[in-house]
This record gives sequence, structure tokens and C-alpha cells, in this order.
Amino acid sequence: MKKVSIIYWSCGGNIEALANTMADGAREQGAEVRIKHVADATIEDVLEADSVAFGSPAVDAAKIEQLEMKPFLEQLKDYSKDNKKKNCILFATYGWIEDTFMKIWKDEMTSYGFNVMGDLAVKDSPTKKQTNLIKKLGKDLAN
Ligand SMILES: Cc1cc2nc3c(=O)[nH]c(=O)nc-3n(C[C@H](O)[C@H](O)[C@H](O)COP(=O)(O)O)c2cc1C
Repeated sequence: MKKVSIIYWSCGGNIEALANTMADGAREQGAEVRIKHVADATIEDVLEADSVAFGSPAVDAAKIEQLEMKPFLEQLKDYSKDNKKKNCILFATYGWIEDTFMKIWKDEMTSYGFNVMGDLAVKDSPTKKQTNLIKKLGKDLAN
């Protein structure tokens, strides 16, 4: 059984809803899923997982959330050898910018040793098509 961790930051609930949909997709594929707000997550949640997903809204001119998500992810650069190309999916929501920050975020996670196999940025709430896509990304994490 694949171990999947989904770690996110959310205040208004948009990212949390995407995280839950992704978890449903992974569970449908038979994965054991840990889904946590980053405030409750530990490094072990990443190290012990076969694949991981991280979710954040865009804040402060196209950065990921800076007070909790950014420092959590920065710790992972010390484990780049342990991450050993672990499959990773990044998901984001934004209010008014285009999803330009995703490329920077992907490059950062790749430099920490992850294989970023998928990403999705959604303007606030997902369309039906985007909901299906995030569920599929959850299934991909479990495969
Ligand atoms: C303090 C704050 C700063 C934000 N900054 C940006 C921004 O720079 N660019 C943007 O597109 N959206 C920005 N947003 C909008 C959020 O990215 C968007 O509403 C997101 O869907 C919130 O996710 P959540 O409901 O999971 O908290 C900001 C929202 C907040 C509360």
C-alpha cells in the first residue's frame, strides 16, 4: 500500500477543499493517506511517505504562504538526499495574479530533491474540470 502525505496551508478553505479532493483520489487507488495542515505536519510526514503533495495559496505578490509553509519546506532542503527524487505534486490557489509563481516553486522543490510530477494552480475555487484534475493527481500520487 502506497503511503501518501498531503500537506497544505489554508485560511479561507480553498486549498483545504483541493487537498480533500486529492486525498479522495489517492484513497480510491488504495493509498494510506496522511492529510495535514502544515501547522500540524512534521518532517517525518514527508520522509515516511512514498509520495507527497504540497498546497499553498499565492500571497504577497505571488509567493507561497511565507509564515508556515515556506519555513516548513525550507527544512526539506537538508534532506535532499533522502528525498531521492520522491514523487511530488504542487497545488495552489490564487486570487488575481496568473500562476507565475508555480514555476519558481517547482524549481525550488526540484532543487530539494523532489520529482515534481504534476502541478495545478486554480483561481480561488476549482471548476468541475479542475476538480476532476485534482482528483486524478491524487490517484497519480498513489500509483
Ligand atoms: C494576506 C493575503 C494575501 C494574498 N496575496 C495574494 C497575491 O499576492 N496574489 C494572488 O493572486 N492572490 C493573493 N491572495 C488571494 C489568495 O491566494 C486566494 O484567496 C486563495 O484562494 C486563498 O486560499 P485559502 O482559501 O485556502 O486560504 C491573498 C490572500 C490573502 C489573505
